[in-house]
Amino acid sequence: MSRALIAKRFTPYSPRHQSLPVFDFLAPSLVPWTRCVRRVPITTTAASIDSKPKPKPKPKPKPKPKPEPEPHHAESPQLRSKKHPFSPEQQRFLDRALRVNQAGELAAVLIYAAQTPLLIRSHPQLRPLMKHMYDQEEGHFQTFNDLIARHRVRPTLMYPVWKAAATALGWSTAIMGRETAMACTEAVETEIGGHYNEQIKVLLDWAEKMETQGEEVGEELKDLLRNLRRIRDEELEHLDHAVSNDAKSAEPYELLTNIIRSGCRTAIWISERV
Ligand SMILES: [Fe+2]
Ligand SMILES: [Fe+2]
Repeated sequence: MSRALIAKRFTPYSPRHQSLPVFDFLAPSLVPWTRCVRRVPITTTAASIDSKPKPKPKPKPKPKPKPEPEPHHAESPQLRSKKHPFSPEQQRFLDRALRVNQAGELAAVLIYAAQTPLLIRSHPQLRPLMKHMYDQEEGHFQTFNDLIARHRVRPTLMYPVWKAAATALGWSTAIMGRETAMACTEAVETEIGGHYNEQIKVLLDWAEKMETQGEEVGEELKDLLRNLRRIRDEELEHLDHAVSNDAKSAEPYELLTNIIRSGCRTAIWISERV
């Protein structure tokens, strides 16, 4: 290979590039970089000169974009396909109901969380029962978190107040003893169970009217009814546990349960509106 050829082969840029004015550095789009950087292989053999240019490789097909993952609380495809739009009046009812339910379940979680350590210290045999009820309340709370997100319902503004009140109620009744703690559970679950029953009755009326008018009851409504019935039954199970653990032996039972029940009704009334 001659000196001239070697020099030409290893020159990084063409003379044309070297003669570019300096300001091209500040405006890279003006520079014909592809022409400058690409080097044409210089070969001296006859075979390489005679050989035909290789065909360009076919462009690879672009990979298909992956489908986006479903969100955490995704509705089932069946639920999406059979959505029944609620009327504005029905939506207002759901706003109030779901807001109250979510706040009530948060309060229940906090009551059991405050009661459990004190109760099981003096009555270790209650540990499985308290854990079972706590776990169910946490599940209820999660269910209503998902439902208020799906139905775009605003949570109550009273959240911080209810959190403090529920913790104080759980702690104070557990301090007063097992019977008082169980009386608290009985009172709360009586009010909550009745509250869920009223909501189930309203939703059943809606379903009945739809069927009377020849409309299909949507999966949204069926799903709400399923959840409310399941949670209502679990609340009534808690009530039974409380009664079987001497809730009625609390002193003074009537005064205590009446105060707690009226407190629950007040909290429900406020949470529906605020
Ligand atoms: Fe609950
Ligand atoms: Fe409960």
